[in-house]
Amino acid sequence: MASSYRPPVLGSLALIAIVIGVSAVGFAYTAGWFSPQRLTPDRFVEAFAPPTGVALGHRRNHAKGICFTGVFEANGAGSELSQAQAFTRRQYPVLGRFDLGTADANAPDATVRVRGLGIRISTPDGQEWRSAMIDPPFFPVSTPQAFYELLRASGSKEPNALETFAIAHPEFAKFGDWAKTAPCTGSYAEERFNSINSFIFVDRSGNDHVVRWSLLPAAQPVALSPEELAKRGPDFLEQEIVHRVADAPQRWTMVVTVANPGDPTADPTVAWPPDRRSIQVGTPAT
Ligand code: HEM
Repeated sequence: MASSYRPPVLGSLALIAIVIGVSAVGFAYTAGWFSPQRLTPDRFVEAFAPPTGVALGHRRNHAKGICFTGVFEANGAGSELSQAQAFTRRQYPVLGRFDLGTADANAPDATVRVRGLGIRISTPDGQEWRSAMIDPPFFPVSTPQAFYELLRASGSKEPNALETFAIAHPEFAKFGDWAKTAPCTGSYAEERFNSINSFIFVDRSGNDHVVRWSLLPAAQPVALSPEELAKRGPDFLEQEIVHRVADAPQRWTMVVTVANPGDPTADPTVAWPPDRRSIQVGTPAT
């Protein structure tokens, strides 16, 4: 018997058209085509370009840096807070990079106030634990939009641009004070690096813990005066760490700090009070 069934071709085509149309609208929205003022990833990355132009082949921010390999020796204490394998007691390989918080890949080291550290800890279960940290104890601004405005103000030819920005963002003053008064060391190995942002660790029972972390240097920090800094060569940090690591591995202690209820978890300009519970979870070393 002949079948009277006919495939719903038109219906299928209409469905495909709708899916393609919705996807296209989604892409256009994400790219910011409907809202030229909205902050998109592309617009943000463009704002990092230094006046001398983009340094091709370098990162758009933290452009100057030096990579290293090392190990993370977990002591097992972090497993109380997180089920990530990286906190189970043993050694894990690390790939890292010390850097300067600037988009200028040729900036003289002494002219850049923020120093950074990126690490990747690889674990046997195939996961990677990646962290970007910087040496200030807090971020200059609270939101990506404010960071974008700060970049625009810093690169502006308008003489009062930064002052106008600072008035609109009073939280920025604290960072300015830190930049002026915090000791500046002569080595990446003497820096404390901080996660700044808050993260949620999930323990084996599925409980959440809001945390931040820091790497505390084993090397004693020695502050340099502005005059001493000015005498150092343009790449002194890179040269110093190469010699230092050739002499001996450099170590930090990784400390995880747990938020108290009510601590700000979405504002990187606010450091938590120093009495918060802290756990030493391991030792990264170059
Ligand atoms: C809205 C906030 C932020 C924006 C838009 C931003 C943007 C960027 C960009 C564009 C890069 C270069 C990436 C590449 O080319 O591979 C970068 C690198 C980096 N950022 Fe951020 N960043 C932000 C917040 C932070 C914070 C809060 C920290 C530290 C706690 C941080 C630390 C770093 C470090 C250490 C690197 C270098 C990583 C590496 O060596 O590969 N950033 N950032």
